[in-house]
This record gives sequence, C-alpha cells and structure tokens, in this order.
Amino acid sequence: MTAPLLQIDTAHGVRTIRINRPDKLNALNAATLDALDAAFADADADAAVRAVVLTGAGPKAFVAGADIAEMNGLTPVQGRDFSLRGTRMMRRVEKLSKPVIAMVNGFALGGGLELAMCCHLRIAADTAKVGQPEINLGLIPGFGGSQRLLRLCGRAATLELCLTGAPITAERALQLGIVNRVVPAAELEAETMKLAAQLASAAPLALRGMLDCVNIGGECGIEEGLEYESAQFGLMFATEDMREGTSAFLEKRKPAFAGK
Ligand code: COA
Repeated sequence: MTAPLLQIDTAHGVRTIRINRPDKLNALNAATLDALDAAFADADADAAVRAVVLTGAGPKAFVAGADIAEMNGLTPVQGRDFSLRGTRMMRRVEKLSKPVIAMVNGFALGGGLELAMCCHLRIAADTAKVGQPEINLGLIPGFGGSQRLLRLCGRAATLELCLTGAPITAERALQLGIVNRVVPAAELEAETMKLAAQLASAAPLALRGMLDCVNIGGECGIEEGLEYESAQFGLMFATEDMREGTSAFLEKRKPAFAGK
C-alpha cells in the first residue's frame, strides 16, 4: 500500500495538513497539487476547522520545490497547465476564509516558498532555508513567486533571490519580511500550535473580514481599500461575535466566539 500524499488531522479546531513525500523532500508533483487543492477546499467548507497549519513530513524539508523529475518531460502547453494547476491551488490557500500558518520545518525552495507565501503567516525553524532556485534549472518561478515575493518584500530582495537562485537563512528571511517569526527547530511545532490555537479561538467572521481586507482591499487603490475596510467593519455589527466580544470586555470575562 502506498503512503497517502497528505497526512491530515484535526484537533481543537486546528487542521494540520502535512505533505508526505519525505523521500523526495515533499516536492510538489501534479498529484500532490491536486491533493492539496482538495484538502484546502475541505478545510474551507468544514465549520469545525477554524485555523489550518501546513507543513512538510520529515526532518529536512517543508517543500523543496515543484517536482523536477515530473517537469523535465513537459511540453510548453503541459508546462503552462502545470503552472496553472499550482497557481489555482495556491490562490485557494491565499483566499481561504480562515487563517493558514505555514510551519516551515526545513527547505522551502521554489514551489515550496511559493506555497509558504500563500499562507497568511509563516513560522520558520532556525534551520530552515528558503529561496527561488528556478534560475539554476533554466526556469523562473511558476506558481506566483515573482508576484508574491515582490509584494512581500519589494524589488531588491525579489530580484536578488530570483536572479541568483541562492537560498537564504531563516534569519535573513525574517529581516526581509518573508517570514513572520523564526524559532529554534525543537520549538517549531509547539510555537506554531500555540499560535494556531490562539487563531482557532478568535472570532471567525472577524478573521475572515481581516483576510478579505488584505486580499481584496490590499490590491485596490487606497480610496477603494479604505471603503472596503469600512464596509467590512460595518458588516461585523451584524455578527453575534461582535456583541459577544464587546460584552465580554465590558463584563470583564473571556469571550466565547461561535462564528455567528
Ligand atoms: N523535485 C523532485 N525531486 C526532488 C526535489 C524536487 N524539487 N528536491 C529534492 N528532490 C529529491 C532528490 O532528487 C532526491 O531523490 P533521490 O533520493 O531519489 O535521488 C531526494 O529528493 C533527496 O534530495 P537530495 O538532493 O539528495 O538532498 P540533499 O540534502 O542533498 O539536497 C536540496 C537538498 C534541497 C539542496 C536539493 O534536493 C535541491 O537542490 N533540490 C531542488 C531544489 C529546487 O531547485 N527547487 C525548485 C524546483 S522548481
């Protein structure tokens, strides 16, 4: 029996999706892209899931890139379709209605960094290395890397990473704003789960409103973005969670958010 491409479990509202090809450093072949697409669609639809953690199996890699062996034989049309397949899945992750944390436990290269950048937050082990090494293969990023890296950390760092292909340390990725936090490798899982638990107990509709403000509002001009935020802010007054959160503050107790 072959091992499943993903290991998925759910505890206390946190769904963990672990890419499970450790012998290939969790490289993204077409089957893994499709499995991830289905897993994220399921996490989105399941009201019991309030936050998602994405990581890679094994001690070495988050994801070491798109599957080079699979790409080697592709025609131009197949190459475009492979890119569209990955891009579609990653856009789903980015636009998920609940927060997604990338737990970067090792190499996040090429498609691995692209996948991590679609997640809303990134926590990296101090041993992790990230980069866009496609140039070394006579390629460029194909799952949105050139665009997302540019938006995360600007032209200088994007061009440095993509033109040289050289990986950088987690610490440098933190300085460049590519990851949110770096923690000792031995503490990565515990720290990530602590953050995931915090997000899983936050008000789901407010989390969703905030994700939309960045995903949608962040791609408009400032006037439209501010209008969008005001509209989302107003929408919060229709939620039970907003009444609960403000009442709990006034009554000096902890709020219990139901996502209504
Ligand atoms: N696609 C397909 N297979 C990959 C892969 C990828 N992106 N990255 C690693 N692998 C495979 C290797 O081919 C090897 O398989 P094998 O044991 O059947 O030969 C296995 O994973 C282990 O990798 P290996 O290179 O032996 O590990 P390492 O510790 O010596 O080096 C890396 C680790 C990450 C530096 C190296 O694997 C690497 O450079 N990978 C490619 C990174 C890349 O270019 N990504 C962008 C792709 S667009």
